[in-house]
Amino acid sequence: MDRRRFLSVGWKLGAVAIGCAGAWTSWDLLRPLPGSGLGGLIKTVPPDEVPAHTTIYVRSAQTYLTRIEDEIVALWQKCPHLGCRVAWCEGSGEFECPCHGSTFNRAGEVRSGPAPRGMDRFVVAETDGVIQVDTGTVVRGQPAGSPESIDEPPRDGSC
Ligand code: FES
Repeated sequence: MDRRRFLSVGWKLGAVAIGCAGAWTSWDLLRPLPGSGLGGLIKTVPPDEVPAHTTIYVRSAQTYLTRIEDEIVALWQKCPHLGCRVAWCEGSGEFECPCHGSTFNRAGEVRSGPAPRGMDRFVVAETDGVIQVDTGTVVRGQPAGSPESIDEPPRDGSC
């Protein structure tokens, strides 16, 4: 093999190696992790950390966890009106949507505003001592105007 042919083959092999390394790195960075991310099963907190009269936010599941009587409920943060992120307001004891002002009680039921239904829920289960949220299974909220299932009137504060 002469020098020119040797260098040509060497450059081509080098280019192929660099291309493979780039493809591997891209795939490794972009591939979804099994069992995590929205749309999958997400482990959260032990059941006794879920409060009864307020909520806790779980960022990885985009979910508020709360306890309604003895049931643990996972409420999706996405407003059922146009999809803004609904925020829990400790002062009023309600969820408040910053976009068009819909409010929801702690069970996610509509109190006011243009939202056509209550906040959607995810299915939850206790697994290995923690609450696991199935973000791939969405249960639609009750239509606006439905009676509230909890007796917790709004408090004076507002956010
Ligand atoms: S997006 Fe929430 S009220 Fe419009």
